[in-house]
Amino acid sequence: ASVDKAGYKHFMAKEIAEQPTVLQGALAHYINADATGITLPEPGLDFTQVERMTMVACGTAFYACLVAKYWFEQIAGIPVEVDVASEFRYREPPVTPGTVALFVSQSGETADTLAALRYMEGKADKIVSVVNVPESSIARESDLPLPILAGTEIGVASTKAFTCQLTTMAILALQAAHVRGRIDDQELADKLSNLRALPGVLNLALGIEGKTQEVSRKLAETRDILFLGRGAMYPLALEGALKLKEISYIHAEAYASGELKHGPIALVDKHVPVIVMAPRDALFDKTVSNMQEVMARGGKVLLVTDREGAKTAGDGVWDTILMPEIDPFLAPILYAVPAQLLAYHTAVAKGTDVDQPRNLAKSVTVE
Ligand code: G6P
Repeated sequence: ASVDKAGYKHFMAKEIAEQPTVLQGALAHYINADATGITLPEPGLDFTQVERMTMVACGTAFYACLVAKYWFEQIAGIPVEVDVASEFRYREPPVTPGTVALFVSQSGETADTLAALRYMEGKADKIVSVVNVPESSIARESDLPLPILAGTEIGVASTKAFTCQLTTMAILALQAAHVRGRIDDQELADKLSNLRALPGVLNLALGIEGKTQEVSRKLAETRDILFLGRGAMYPLALEGALKLKEISYIHAEAYASGELKHGPIALVDKHVPVIVMAPRDALFDKTVSNMQEVMARGGKVLLVTDREGAKTAGDGVWDTILMPEIDPFLAPILYAVPAQLLAYHTAVAKGTDVDQPRNLAKSVTVE
């Protein structure tokens, strides 16, 4: 069936709006009807035997892996290495027993990612892929292909595939944590019920659209933008900067908040908006001091946070985008929405070709 814009101005807008619906489908696919357990497709994966994971991808899928690293290390206690496919494939990394290789790709056809997968054949204990196209090369060549069920994605800048990749890997991390005895049945059930509530929360988050549109008109006037985030929000800062540069052509860079003083702070002045992705979590106070360092130099902080975060941060920020409250574990999935909407509306304000940005391809099947 052909896919149309269903009344939206761009495929990207449609795909952003579709996220609650497609996510619901992905959740129903993996989480048992009584919400107490997870079912992986055959042949499954015995996480008690896993010593480490190596995750490889490109672009937005790479950032999904970076988030997953925080999840697997923190809740499942599995060491994770993440690399971009173009570096991984030529580095000839040694592979030790007990290694699971995981490849993430929307298209399942990215040349570098496929080559990295082939490098791991016969070396890794198991090859897992997280893919949107089930009949793709990467899906066919893996031992355990996990579909993300995002549906056809047309916009070159990946949106719903990213949130579905994250959701699939969150489920996988919970499964790993549970079978390794790091979380008990009750904790698993609680996390799964939070996951099942996610489409509703995502729907609420889409309510920030008017506000992001207003802020984006101001962002569209700028030449450089910095994104900051800590912990699993750091990859979200990276994704926000990637989306923005891809479709609005504004130079954007992301840093881990703690790295601010090791370089990027030299760029801060009143012309450079600094977008801080920070739900009120255990590390929030540290992020507040980073924001103060920015503001003390005349920098304009755009804080993306929840009500508690906004209260703690106090006055002095340039603007705030208020997000719904969320279990910190799931915040990276929810905060994809502001990352996407800020890029989208800034690009629209600049009048660029949102769905077909210059020089970029949806799927990079040649090296
Ligand atoms: C291209 C696309 C990105 C995508 C990346 C990886 O650069 O423009 O949106 O994230 O390829 O693609 P894949 O299909 O492997 O996820």
